Amino acid sequence: MATINDNYLKLKAGYLFPEIARRVNGFAETNPDAKIIRLGIGDVTEPLPAACRTAMINAVEEMGDRATFKGYGPEQGYAWLREKIAAHDFQSRGCDIDASEIFVSDGSKCDTGNILDIFGNDNTIAVTDPVYPVYVDTNVMAGHTGAATNRGEFEGLVYLPITAENQFTAEIPTQKVDLIYLCFPNNPTGATATREHLQAWVDYAKAHGSIIFFDAAYEGFIADPEIPHSIYEIKEAKDCAIEFRSFSKNAGFTGIRCALTVVPKTLLAKAADGSNIELWKLWNRRQSTKFNGVSYIVQRGAEAVYSEEGQTQTRSLIHFYMENAKIIREQLTGAGLQVYGGVNAPYVWVQTPNSLSSWDFFDKLLHTCNVVGTPGSGFGAAGEGYFRLSAFNSRENVETAMKRITEKFKA
Ligand code: MLT
Repeated sequence: MATINDNYLKLKAGYLFPEIARRVNGFAETNPDAKIIRLGIGDVTEPLPAACRTAMINAVEEMGDRATFKGYGPEQGYAWLREKIAAHDFQSRGCDIDASEIFVSDGSKCDTGNILDIFGNDNTIAVTDPVYPVYVDTNVMAGHTGAATNRGEFEGLVYLPITAENQFTAEIPTQKVDLIYLCFPNNPTGATATREHLQAWVDYAKAHGSIIFFDAAYEGFIADPEIPHSIYEIKEAKDCAIEFRSFSKNAGFTGIRCALTVVPKTLLAKAADGSNIELWKLWNRRQSTKFNGVSYIVQRGAEAVYSEEGQTQTRSLIHFYMENAKIIREQLTGAGLQVYGGVNAPYVWVQTPNSLSSWDFFDKLLHTCNVVGTPGSGFGAAGEGYFRLSAFNSRENVETAMKRITEKFKA
C-alpha cells in the first residue's frame, strides 16, 4: 500500500479558519434565525476597484481576439506588471529592488509555504507566538518539526513570544536561528515595526547568515509615515530577506488571487558542499517547474492598481476598512475592553474580559452576540487570553456587531 507523509499526522486540529467555519456552521444549523456577523477570517467584503474591473474586462476581450489572445505567460509574471511593482512599491521608497527580482504569484499564503522548497531540512526556524498559522503548519508538513507539545507548540521550532510588554514585537533571539518569519503590520496582533526594530533584525540576520521571511501583506494599511512598508527600506536587507506581498487586502483580491514575492539576486544560502548559492536561481527554477503563472486577466487587474484611478480607489478601500477598525477600537475600549492594533493594520487584538479563555470568549460572542472572531490561542499558545477581530466587513455589520458586543459587556 502507498504510504503518506506522516508529518501531516502531527497537525493536531484542522487549519484554524476552516475549524472556525465548522463551529460557526454548526451553530447556524441549530440557530437558523441567528444573524451571524463574521469578523473572523480577514476576508474582504467590498467591491473590487472599478479600475481593476475595467482592466480585467478589457483583458477578457483581448482573449477573444486571435491577434491579442494569450496562452501561457511567463511563470514569473509579465514584465509590465513586475516593472510597475518595482517602481511603485519599492523604488519609490528608496528600495533597490529590480523588476527581475519580483515573482508574481497567486497568493502570499502559498508563497510563504512554497518557499520552504528551496531551503534545507536542517535549518533552525523561528516564529513569533502568536503567529499566522501557515508559517508553522507548512514547516510541520515539510518535516521540519517534532511532535506538538501539550501547549500546542511544535518541538524543534523556536517560538519568540510577542506580548503587550514588548509591544507585540519579538525580542531579537540570543541563540542562532537560520530562518525567521516576521509579519508587519502584524497578523494577528495589528502591531507594526519601527525602522530600528527592522534594522536590529537585519543586523542579526547578517551576523548569523540567517534569512528573514518578511510578510508585508498588510503594508497598504500603514498610515504612520514613520513606519517602514518594506524590509528593503533597511538597505542591507537585500542580503538577508525575502519579502511577500499581496493584492488581496489592499485591492480586494482575495477571490481574484494575485500576490508577489521578492527574492533579491544578492541573497545567498549554503549548499551541502559548502558553496554559496543564489536563492533567486532556485526560486526561479522552482516557480518555472511547479507554477504556470497568474492568469493574464488577473495580472492586468493587478496592474490597474498602479493607475491613477486605481491608486485613488484602493486608498479609499483601505480608508473604509480602517474606519471600521477605528469603530471597533473605540467601541470596545468604551465598553472597558483592552484593545491593541487596528491603527496601522486591519486587525484589532482584544484581551478577553474576565480572564476568559480565547475559545470560551469565541463561544460567548457567537452564542450571545452572534458575532464571530478568531480565538487568539489559534495563533499560538501566547495568544491565549486574546481574541482577534477583523475590520474587513461592511460598515453596517461592523456597527451592528459592536452594538451587540458593547450592550452585552456594558450590562
Ligand atoms: C487571516 O484572517 O488571518 C487571513 O485571512 C489569512 C490569509 O490571508 O490567508
